Order: sequence, then structure tokens, then C-alpha cells
Amino acid sequence: MHRLARRVNVIGISKIEESLRIIEQHPEIISLGAGEPDFPAPPNVISAAEKFLERGYTHYSPLQGRRELREALVEKLKKENKIDANENEILITCGSKEAILLSVLTLINPKEEVITPNPGYIGYRPIIELIEGKAISLRLREEDNFEYHAEKLEKMVTKKTRLIIVNTPSNPTGTVFKRKTLEEIAEIAVDKDLMILSDEAYEKLVYDNSKHTSMASLNGMEKYVITTQTFSKTFAMCGFRVGYAVATEDIIKEMKEFKLCTTISAPTFSQLAAIEALNHSKKYVERMRKEYDRRRKMLIKRLNQLSNISCIKPQGAFYAFPNVTGLKMSSDKVADFLIRKAKVVTVPGTEFGKYGEGFLRLSYATAYGKLETAIDRIEKAIGKI
Ligand SMILES: Cc1ncc(COP(=O)(O)O)c(C=O)c1O
Repeated sequence: MHRLARRVNVIGISKIEESLRIIEQHPEIISLGAGEPDFPAPPNVISAAEKFLERGYTHYSPLQGRRELREALVEKLKKENKIDANENEILITCGSKEAILLSVLTLINPKEEVITPNPGYIGYRPIIELIEGKAISLRLREEDNFEYHAEKLEKMVTKKTRLIIVNTPSNPTGTVFKRKTLEEIAEIAVDKDLMILSDEAYEKLVYDNSKHTSMASLNGMEKYVITTQTFSKTFAMCGFRVGYAVATEDIIKEMKEFKLCTTISAPTFSQLAAIEALNHSKKYVERMRKEYDRRRKMLIKRLNQLSNISCIKPQGAFYAFPNVTGLKMSSDKVADFLIRKAKVVTVPGTEFGKYGEGFLRLSYATAYGKLETAIDRIEKAIGKI
């Protein structure tokens, strides 16, 4: 055995990885575990990428990302997010995941605290712990619709708190934060002089009458917020690896320096194809959103018809987060049971932090027919308990 650094222990084996192995061995299993769109990237984006590769865009890009893309994003941010940023306030990254990593590297010293949603996206905690910061769990409760509770949030702020992570629409709960909640969080950040990392990976996936509000669009918040967005979910371009961070120039400048230690640049042809996505893929995006919405309605209705399971209607992303406490088993056990007896993969809520106990995450980035079969099988299996 080699002698390895202690930090290898920060990242445990995730259940999701284990499930992927099982799925490979058992093709009859239906996976509702996916965290990425089941749609291919828009055809015009694929053609654009091919064209750029043929034309020889096979080299590095500048550390900050290609200027054409940053210019296109200035317009997008202004029009769609009401964020006023110039191209020096945008950094192109390899997916928004890298933007999150660079944000934490730039803002957090060892022992400093980051308030992190729990249950929340599994990507935050390991990054914070790798740099020996402290991820402080903000417990999200079903009765609050998994939104932040301002009073509780405020009580968690200590002298060591530096950053609050906000993820709306949320993974894994599908919650879209109300503008009022965001205003309350903003007030706390200003009052205590804290930064906010606003992870908006699912910004375009909102349903019913919900609206996505960008934290940085709130009055006077630009200098308190690093916004991270991505082409992965909106445009089904996960494999292109293009995301970005938006913040004040001094922060972006430092984040850019760290890019020398990470990826240097997002793939050049992907950055150029991303401009095509921004300019010419609106209809495709809307078609995907409508299909997610159709699946969401069916899935939530069916889940609520199951005995001992209930599910609040998520307003965003592509996840349902049903409460399975009525089954009188831990989330882990329910997920194992469903793999064995229903041949359906779900993700136990505890994968997203200990306060995810009692819940499962089901992804409806899964074809409608498959999703129906999966829920039929779950119904049958649960009926036999
Ligand atoms: C909430 C959230 N943020 C960020 C990401 C990172 O995605 P990407 O790096 O592809 O932009 C994901 C991916 O699943 C996510 O769910």
C-alpha cells in the first residue's frame, strides 16, 4: 500500500458510484439516480462544435475564457438574470463545479466556516474540507419547503463564518427559493459582512408559476455574491464542460490565477459552441423543460398515491425528494430494497447530508415511459412490504 495524504479520506465512496456499478451489471435495472439531462445536446450546438474542431480550435483558451463568450454572457446576464456585469467580472470554467472550487479556494482560509445546505448538493462539503475549511450544515426542513429559515441561519453565523452557499433551484430537493427568502439571506450577508455563493446550475428548470431570482440581481448585492451558472443542465451540455462564475473584478482576478493550478481553460471548441447555445437554442431548451414538467407532474402524482410515501411538489431542477419515513426503514435501506425488489435505482437522502435521512432523491431526467415503469415497479414492491 502506498502512503497517501490524509486528505484522500475526505472523499468517501458515494452510493451513486456504487449504483452505477450495479446498473452496468444488471441492464434490467432502471436508474432514477442520474444528475444530468437524458437529452442530447442541441443539434446546432453539436454541429457548431464539429465545425470549430475542423477549423482547428484545438488549442488552449485564455485563463479567463474566450472574450466572445464572456461578451455573450454579459448580455445574457443582463437580460435573463438582471445582473449587471462586464466581461472582466466573468470567469469561464470547466463546468460550474470548477467555479465552486475556485470560489472556495479564493475566499476561505483553513478553519473558516461555510454555511452549507443539508440536504444539499454533494459537491460542496468535500471542496470545503479539502482546504480544511468547515462546512457548517444548515438543516433544511420539509415543513419549510426546504428553503432557508432566516432566523435559524442568522443564529449560525459566528466570527469564523465567511460564506453562505445558496442553491436555487436546489439539488436534491427541487426547491425554488422565493424572492423574499433570498432578500432575507441577503440582509444577513450585508449585516454580517459575509459572501454568498449562489449556485444557479438549474436556473432555467422552473415550473408552474415559480420564477428563478438571481441573488446578485437584488439591490446592492453584486459585491457580496459569486454567482455560478453552467451550460450543463440548461442546454444538456454536461460533457462540454462549460460553466462560469460572476463576481467583482478583484475576486475574479484571483480565481483566474488559480486556474493555472486546475484546468487552464475549459475546452476551446466547447466555449465557442456555448455561444451558439446561448444564441440559437431557446426553443430546444423550452422543449426539454416542458418534457421535464410533464414527467414531474406524473411522478409527483404517482408518488403521492403510494402508501406511506409523500412528496411535496418540487418547483425546479429535475428531482423529486419524497418522504419515505412511513416505510419505517432508513433511506439507505429503502434505496437498497428498491434496487433488489423493484429493480429501480434511487439515491438515499443521506447522500446529501445527514438531514436527508427519511428521504430519497428520484431524478426525472429519465424518459417518460421508463419513469412510468419505474414507479409501477416501486408501487408493486412497496405493496408487498
Ligand atoms: C447544484 C449543482 N451545482 C453544480 C453542479 C455542477 O455541474 P457542472 O460542473 O456540470 O456545471 C451540479 C451537478 O450536478 C449541481 O447539481
